[in-house]
Amino acid sequence: ETKPRIPVLWLHGLECTCCSESFIRSAHPLAKDVILSMISLDYDDTIMAAAGFQAESIIDETIQKYDGNFILACEGNPPLNQEGMSCIIGGKPYLEQLKKAADHCKAIISWGSCASWGCVQAARPNPTQATPIHKVPGLPAKPIIKVPGCPPIAEVMTAVIAYILTFDRFPELDMQGRPKMFYSQRIHDKCYRRPHFDAGQFVESFDDEGARRGYCLYKVGCKGPTTYNACSTVRWNGGLSFPIQAGHPCIGCSEDGFWDKGGFYERL
Ligand code: SF4
Ligand code: SF4
Ligand code: F3S
Repeated sequence: ETKPRIPVLWLHGLECTCCSESFIRSAHPLAKDVILSMISLDYDDTIMAAAGFQAESIIDETIQKYDGNFILACEGNPPLNQEGMSCIIGGKPYLEQLKKAADHCKAIISWGSCASWGCVQAARPNPTQATPIHKVPGLPAKPIIKVPGCPPIAEVMTAVIAYILTFDRFPELDMQGRPKMFYSQRIHDKCYRRPHFDAGQFVESFDDEGARRGYCLYKVGCKGPTTYNACSTVRWNGGLSFPIQAGHPCIGCSEDGFWDKGGFYERL
């Protein structure tokens, strides 16, 4: 309670903004408690009240005041082609804003599959050369924590922040830079439809008897067996449900390259 709130610059590159949409719906902890009591969200061009030069100057002010001591949260990624002209923020390529903030931050959080892997805007042939944060040439070697998902689960996002603030360190990461506590198991490992998979009871088409009985969705394209995420344990909307519970196969939205790996409804 006595700790000063850590400054956060939350930048937006090529993205759909649903990572922010997810974040603001966190129930445990509430997003408002994260923003009002845990971090000082000094810049977020999607939700901040300020606009124009006043807003953009906050980045320089934060760098001056908290050099090396603020978190850089990245939603979306920069397009590298044509010197970054496919994503302009405050009249300049997002790439410039990203490089400037990255040079002075303490660490980077890559929110979602856009920042972590590239996502749909990096789909072949990737005309803008959309590039995930850890692959952007010229960025300093800062610690990067990836929180993939399209979007990531709200409570996973806020838990990562809460962990960093509570313990003053990153949570343990896997080989790909994801927090092990949320990304070490496959959706399939804890899926409540798993007994049907084990019993060979599968949905063959979306309106068949198996679908009505809640059978396993593997044959209609479920990527749960190859997807590392916490949806089947933490779930969504405050723990209420997740895609498979709603009758839709997992499309593997937290995995690198999911957008280019064939149809969402085909078995790979
Ligand atoms: Fe949107 Fe998905 Fe990118 Fe998040 S990762 S900004 S949800 S496209
Ligand atoms: Fe595995 Fe998907 Fe079947 Fe669940 S629905 S048991 S995740 S294949
Ligand atoms: Fe994404 Fe699969 Fe979860 S599609 S939201 S990782 S169930």
